[in-house]
Amino acid sequence: MHIEPATEATARGAADVLTEAFVDDPVYGYLLEGADRRRRLDRFFLGVVRTALGPGGVVDLALDEDRTVLGAAVWSRHPAPPAARLRNLREGWRMPLALRPRGVVHLRTYLRRTAPYRTPGPHWSLDDIGVSAAGRGRGVGGALIRHRLALIDEQRAIVDLDSTTRGSRRLYARYGFRVAGPAGTEAAPEATIMVRTPPEG
Ligand SMILES: CC(C)(COP(=O)(O)OP(=O)(O)OC[C@H]1O[C@@H](n2cnc3c(N)ncnc32)[C@H](O)[C@@H]1OP(=O)(O)O)[C@@H](O)C(=O)NCCC(=O)NCCS
Repeated sequence: MHIEPATEATARGAADVLTEAFVDDPVYGYLLEGADRRRRLDRFFLGVVRTALGPGGVVDLALDEDRTVLGAAVWSRHPAPPAARLRNLREGWRMPLALRPRGVVHLRTYLRRTAPYRTPGPHWSLDDIGVSAAGRGRGVGGALIRHRLALIDEQRAIVDLDSTTRGSRRLYARYGFRVAGPAGTEAAPEATIMVRTPPEG
């Protein structure tokens, strides 16, 4: 297994693995309520991945020897550099379309409720991480997280994320993330915002 940044050519594979990973996720279940969820989730993640390929983010891919995509992680910089705005407009339209008006309202509600726990100053976010069903529990997710944190630590930057399940919270805690506040809904009571400050030294 090795890790490399996704490109336009591999964006589709990254979106596919994220869709597979999040199809039963409780928070995405709340955001993408209603029929035809898998197809909408796929459109949503294609928007997420293609937006993050621009100057405001990065997508890391974990690949098998035969280049099968095992996992993907989407990271973004805050505040986004001005050059990212055009990319967001060009690629980000897929997200509201996938969410539909009801999902956009749910997303706004979720972001408003979790805003007090998010990092106010410059920081990185781990927006989404997913490993294929067959690849889970074998260290792929951990490898993706370690890989990018090593680079972010060179910038001494804070990182935050939304943890949607108790299992993922355990994984993030291993890499120094601490719970900053609750993010749960009725459908996803375990969801939390987590923050990691760069290690000393
Ligand atoms: C969470 C996820 C990215 C972790 O990747 P992974 O390659 O399975 O993780 P690793 O093998 O490096 O580490 C395993 C740890 O991940 C966590 N984990 C969370 N969900 C898991 C799952 N469905 N299967 C296996 N491990 C999971 C556990 O803490 C586990 O440690 P444990 O065995 O001590 O319980 C992956 O399991 C996944 O895609 N899950 C579905 C999507 C998801 O929940 N994404 C994160 C949303 S915040």
